[in-house]
Amino acid sequence: MSLGLTPITLDKSVEFSYEELAKATNNFSIACKIGEGGFGVVYYAELRGEKAAIKKMDMQASKEFLAELKVLTHVHHLNLVRLIGYCIEGCLFLVYEFIENGNLSQHLRGSGKDPLSWSTRVQIALDSARGLEYIHEHTVPVYIHRDIKSANILIDKNYHGKVADFGLAKLTEVVGNTLPTRLVGTFGYMPPEYAQYGDVTPKVDVFAFGVVLYELISAKEAVVKLARNTLDTRGLVSLFDEALSQPDPREGLGKLVDPRLGDNYPLDSVLKMAELAEACTQENPQLRPSMRSIVVALMTISSSTEDWDVRAFYGNEALLNLMSGR
Ligand SMILES: Nc1ncnc2c1ncn2[C@@H]1O[C@H](COP(=O)(O)OP(=O)(O)OP(=O)(O)O)[C@@H](O)[C@H]1O
Ligand SMILES: [Mg+2]
Repeated sequence: MSLGLTPITLDKSVEFSYEELAKATNNFSIACKIGEGGFGVVYYAELRGEKAAIKKMDMQASKEFLAELKVLTHVHHLNLVRLIGYCIEGCLFLVYEFIENGNLSQHLRGSGKDPLSWSTRVQIALDSARGLEYIHEHTVPVYIHRDIKSANILIDKNYHGKVADFGLAKLTEVVGNTLPTRLVGTFGYMPPEYAQYGDVTPKVDVFAFGVVLYELISAKEAVVKLARNTLDTRGLVSLFDEALSQPDPREGLGKLVDPRLGDNYPLDSVLKMAELAEACTQENPQLRPSMRSIVVALMTISSSTEDWDVRAFYGNEALLNLMSGR
């Protein structure tokens, strides 16, 4: 294949031909389109007997880019959406494992989805934290995601969370000046030091992750519209900061909890999650916890939530009677 570049050895198992991808997506038909984001359009595909998601990107792959891609196909973790392979004919195509249940943003705010229970929300938070901890601390090289948000957390068929698009920021960076510069990241999720000075450290992801925790609690967008038909907006972080700084944080917090949860949540657990999110979204990046300690904190919240689930279950008289056959 001629790319006008010095040939580099590619892992054949992860390289797909354009023909194969076109066939798998019915020629990239609209019917197969599942989403669109800042980097391109995503299609559903059935490829070599497996379900896949193909991201079509409007850019050319350079030698550095391919080297970077190859590294990415070797990063495997239960809580990261796997990059299966790619295709570099014409544009650039990234082939990912297909995640059945869409993204977290759709579950929190989309119509036609059942509300996620509190324990599922805690589980999704813990899953995504583990995925992030992995790329921050255990891959070589380490990665900073730079675009953590609820649309980049996918939900699998067992309602576990998986982080999507890690490595993309770095990929687009190695493309260098062939791409118009795009400040990677999404409004409402960017910490001050990144938005103002472009400082990139793992604490950029920690801040964005804190915003996702607030979304899990409230189901509100990272940037909240203050009223219908208005352009007035407020960051979710500042809404929660205000509630948490009151003499009785529980009261203000209760008002921010997703109404779709009804009364089916333990306020203690919600408060702990909100305090964790507050620590993640502090202005000073050095004061924000590492993903490793966030995982530990979420494990504690998760086990207390399980206790609550059990009590809620057995505390239900009718259900108890039903179970004992009365
Ligand atoms: N592997 C996948 N399996 C299932 N659905 C996916 C997969 N990857 C992406 N999607 C869907 O396609 C949508 C668009 O993805 P895409 O990454 O292009 O945009 P985004 O996540 O909204 O924004 P960004 O470009 O910042 O990542 C996602 O929000 C998700 O719903
Ligand atoms: Mg994405």
